[in-house]
Amino acid sequence: MARLEYRGETISDVHTIKTLLDANAIPYERWALREQVTTDEEVLQLYRPDIERLQRERGYQSADLVALKPTTPNLDGILAKFTKEHHHTDDEVRFTVAGEGVFEIATFHDDFLKFTAEPGDLIVIPAYRRHSFYLTAARAIRCIRLFETSAGWEAIYEKNF
Ligand code: LAC
Ligand code: NI
Repeated sequence: MARLEYRGETISDVHTIKTLLDANAIPYERWALREQVTTDEEVLQLYRPDIERLQRERGYQSADLVALKPTTPNLDGILAKFTKEHHHTDDEVRFTVAGEGVFEIATFHDDFLKFTAEPGDLIVIPAYRRHSFYLTAARAIRCIRLFETSAGWEAIYEKNF
């Protein structure tokens, strides 16, 4: 279950989380967790009904699976790209299958909320919304990504680092 930190408060009640995300036009859903399986194809197959519903509702074209873990080659190099504030011209859509990760997402009030995604959490970071991402101490996440087009997937950074 997700956790949301905002303005010094930590919220773990799902309805309060949803209300706060709704108020900032950030779609959030809880999907029923399926059995643990191994291959990417099996995971995509198990969640196919939810994936297809979201594709119909929001016009996403494709889905894949991504995993980061302590043994991932160049993990720190990969993470370095996400921890810098950026946006995309398409929605960033993530369903966490296992592990966890933190999304810091710009609100409508010129600050950021901190959303910790856990298994069963589907979150949509709207196109053009500034955000960053990092792992928790466990340094592992496996998630399904949905895409509008592959072209919208370049990260655009807000500042020169
Ligand atoms: C990305 C995330 C993690 O751009 O923000 O893939
Ligand atoms: Ni991103």
